[in-house]
Amino acid sequence: MRAFGSVGGDPLYIVRGQGSHIWDADGNEYVDYVGSWGPLILGHAAPTVIEAVIAAARDGTSFRSFHPSRSGSRRAGHFRFSAHAKVRFVSSGTEATMSAIRLARAYTKRKYIVKFEGCYHGHADALLVKPDRRGHARYSGISGRS
Ligand SMILES: Cc1ncc(COP(=O)(O)O)c(C=O)c1O
Repeated sequence: MRAFGSVGGDPLYIVRGQGSHIWDADGNEYVDYVGSWGPLILGHAAPTVIEAVIAAARDGTSFRSFHPSRSGSRRAGHFRFSAHAKVRFVSSGTEATMSAIRLARAYTKRKYIVKFEGCYHGHADALLVKPDRRGHARYSGISGRS
């Protein structure tokens, strides 16, 4: 949605989702092929997810501290990733991309990354170089030449 101006048209204002369908503010129904780009593998408002969210919220929503579900301790055993030694949860795609770049640079000891023109990978300065095909860096005022 942050990059909607680059693709043209008017953004949809989605107000409700159920299973694989979503509805906009005007009441139009759509099949959601996006699924929040992955996290909604169970569809919108899946009863098991709703119950888990309510149960978690009953214990409080923000502590600005460690929590077993983030630390990878045994108490978070319901998260199982057989192919990964460690998993980092983040709040946005921008943070995920920044973390991936930092990890890649640390591991490879290389400085540069390849970023394709016309692709959006988040709103960090280094990721906003030529986010659209016209070469505009719309969000931060950077030149697009770095
Ligand atoms: C490939 C890719 N990376 C990163 C992002 C940034 O995600 P967010 O808007 O959650 O920061 C997006 C969002 O469109 C994306 O499509």
